[in-house]
Amino acid sequence: MSQRKVGDPQIEALCKGFSKLSRQERETRLIQMGFLTTEDITILHQENPLTIDLANHFVENVIGCFPMPLGVAVNFVIDGRDYVIPMATEETSIIASASKTAKWIREQGEITTQTLGGLCIGQIQLPIVENFNEVKQKIESNKSELIDQANHSVARGIVARGGGIQDMIIRRIYRGDGHSMAVIHVMVDTRDAMGANIINQVCEFLKPHIEKLTNEKVGMCILSNLADTKLSQAKITIYDIEPQLGKAIVEGSLFAQMDPYRAATNNKGVMNGIDAVLIATGNDWRAVEAAIHAYAGYSGQYGSITQWYMKDNHLHGVIEAPIIVGTVGGVTRLHPVARICLKMLHVQTAAELARILAAVGLVQNLAAIKALVTEGINKGHMKLHLSNLALASDATQEELPLLKQHLIERLEKQKSVTGKDVIEILNEMRKKY
Ligand code: MEV
Repeated sequence: MSQRKVGDPQIEALCKGFSKLSRQERETRLIQMGFLTTEDITILHQENPLTIDLANHFVENVIGCFPMPLGVAVNFVIDGRDYVIPMATEETSIIASASKTAKWIREQGEITTQTLGGLCIGQIQLPIVENFNEVKQKIESNKSELIDQANHSVARGIVARGGGIQDMIIRRIYRGDGHSMAVIHVMVDTRDAMGANIINQVCEFLKPHIEKLTNEKVGMCILSNLADTKLSQAKITIYDIEPQLGKAIVEGSLFAQMDPYRAATNNKGVMNGIDAVLIATGNDWRAVEAAIHAYAGYSGQYGSITQWYMKDNHLHGVIEAPIIVGTVGGVTRLHPVARICLKMLHVQTAAELARILAAVGLVQNLAAIKALVTEGINKGHMKLHLSNLALASDATQEELPLLKQHLIERLEKQKSVTGKDVIEILNEMRKKY
């Protein structure tokens, strides 16, 4: 075993009992840990940190803002560094299970990450080409000039930041009607921007040049979300895991690897974590959703985006996925809450943010599989779900604590609770008291 990367004991102490604290105490701890400032807290406390005026600049026909709960998952140590993970989600249990599982890993294992590749893909499509090989030859022999032209004009901003267009790859797609389609992949290093806008601009800039060069018509110019040339990988190891538990987790993982019906749910659990951080940091979660599901179906059969296996006495998990995000551009720096969340993560680059996202997805997956192969998913889920059921009823503030207590008892007795049970219990309570 190489030197295990452990977190800061002071941060670990401040994470202790975090979920049991009041909101004010949690905020104080986050300030003590250096993840938030009092100014950040003031913004977070505002009734509407995203003003209607600002929202009006983001989208059309604005009529309001849609608030979501924002929480933090604690106990995360990734590549030996402590992180507090901001998560915007309406689903109960996600933040609690991420924190609990991160604690387990902190105590008995580690999370490591790496970036594989660094180029995003823009597609220029030539729907029908007379002679594919001729088109390919023309583009390949003029590739350097095309790249230079784009890098010195439309992409000069990204070039100034150390990125830019690095390559062009020509692919042939047989259309099935006897003709061929040519697709040019424009490979762009977008640095810390998610890059959708710049990639689309680059492809559109190249369109007339390519049409002139090839004498063929260009169809679409658009980025591809399946950026298999820029993957984020996260690995988790739990050392000396209890053998029965390790075996059960591996079995649970195998199910998702072999069966697309289970794989979809497994991957939904992964996205529970990833989406929550994407939303909190103002990133395009639809792009990452599309990318991850496309990558999960890459082999021709949709499968699990995560794998778990045992080696010696240790449990190992891995996720490898195209997670294209930005720390600049889009609304990342414009949305006041996203700005705070990004700052809280102390990330230096978009690649680092993508690796954190991969790690959070894998932690969330471990939490779900562990629960599913041991106590089942309901136990953790239901306690918080009961609280939501109670809140959705017309119980008064005074009635809520007793109603929740009765709901927990009902759950223990009949293993499930519905809205009908809530009405029944509430009516009984009102008769008695
Ligand atoms: C629920 O939101 C997510 C799970 O279904 C994920 C899984 O089954 O792995 C618990």
